[in-house]
Amino acid sequence: MTVRTDEWMPRARKLAEELVAIGKLWSAPWQEAVCAVPRHELVPDVLRWDPDGSWHRLDTTTDQGQREWLDHVYSNRALLTAVADRWESRSLRSSSSMPGLMTRMLETLQVREGNRVLEIGTGTGYNAALLAHRLGDTHVFSVDIEPDLVELARKRLARIGYHPTLVVANGTNGLPEHAPFDRIIATCAVSAVPWAWIEQTNPGGILLTDLKTAPGAGNLVRLTRYPDRAEGRFDPTYAAFMDLRHHPAAQTPNRPRPRRHCSTETEQRTTTLDPRTPWASLVVWFLASFDLGAHTSLGYRRPDENGKPTVTAITAADGSWAEVTLADDHGVHQVTEGGPRQLWKIIEDTYTTWTKLGQPSWNRFGLTVTKNQQQIWLDTPTSSHSWLLTSAQLCDIP
Ligand SMILES: C[S@@+](CC[C@H](N)C(=O)[O-])C[C@H]1O[C@@H](n2cnc3c(N)ncnc32)[C@H](O)[C@@H]1O
Repeated sequence: MTVRTDEWMPRARKLAEELVAIGKLWSAPWQEAVCAVPRHELVPDVLRWDPDGSWHRLDTTTDQGQREWLDHVYSNRALLTAVADRWESRSLRSSSSMPGLMTRMLETLQVREGNRVLEIGTGTGYNAALLAHRLGDTHVFSVDIEPDLVELARKRLARIGYHPTLVVANGTNGLPEHAPFDRIIATCAVSAVPWAWIEQTNPGGILLTDLKTAPGAGNLVRLTRYPDRAEGRFDPTYAAFMDLRHHPAAQTPNRPRPRRHCSTETEQRTTTLDPRTPWASLVVWFLASFDLGAHTSLGYRRPDENGKPTVTAITAADGSWAEVTLADDHGVHQVTEGGPRQLWKIIEDTYTTWTKLGQPSWNRFGLTVTKNQQQIWLDTPTSSHSWLLTSAQLCDIP
């Protein structure tokens, strides 16, 4: 399939203008890169979920299909590009993130000419292409755990003239054979920051990653490398990447699924805290994750006859669980809890603490990473309000 320059270039320019207008792109070199990189060459296969849970490829065999695909590719949308169909039907293996998220991250990374950059999570290679366009091939390194994705990205990048160093590897180890780097950017989420990344960053260098202490619990954090540690603040705007995996997705599911206790003993009570709180106040969910544990799941469950969920459900690795009815009686919701711990009580207590602290948003929080511990703090690294990452969160990462 050939796409003429006059078909994709105006679309790429329009995308860059749109990203500038919404504040996701501001510097001239990145604007130039977005206009110049033919994203469509890296995402020939875009997938879409059907309502029945299966997926299909966007059809590019007709003129109309090709136009729709191009519009899709040059829009501020995440593109689903690879799914694992072996162990779970709806499981995402790779995606090309929203261009606005990528450019915001590249801007936040404060890349300078001459920097050597390592990306964790090559995926389609689009981000690597933007980096290679700006810095040159020899300064860009990117790893992905999926061999087929790396192979495809290598071929497609070469076809459009980019030759960054791409390696099949578990990104938790960084890329020691090419270290040190001036910048490390991870486009997948980690439950703790691997110390290897810090060791492989030059002093004064910057690391940007999505820290998720439990599913959905955390945000992008930008760290500066000091001799003994890395430290920095969370991004003001929430973002969520797919989790880093320790094996290719075709082999194994990612996080262990929390299981419910067999015990039928439950406690019933009421709450006035809105059951949507973990989603509506993501900082609360993040702070609660330190007590709930890394292997916690959260969701809307128990659909009614119209398919609408009726409860918020939380389960933890020790078998504790809680369900809170979405329907209320004058602001009062029913809570059912089972297992050794009262999970909704943890959310309620965290909400109270967060409110007493003045309901701080993401940019008031920061992270300090040393070889032996990782600590979240409010406002300053020496604050009396701090939260240590648990051994389970640290254990997921070497
Ligand atoms: C959101 S995608 C990255 C998008 C990519 N930067 C792009 O421009 O298309 C996340 C990627 O992280 C990869 N990944 C997951 N676990 C990994 C690991 N342990 N090491 C390296 N890559 C990993 C996935 O295979 C996936 O391709």
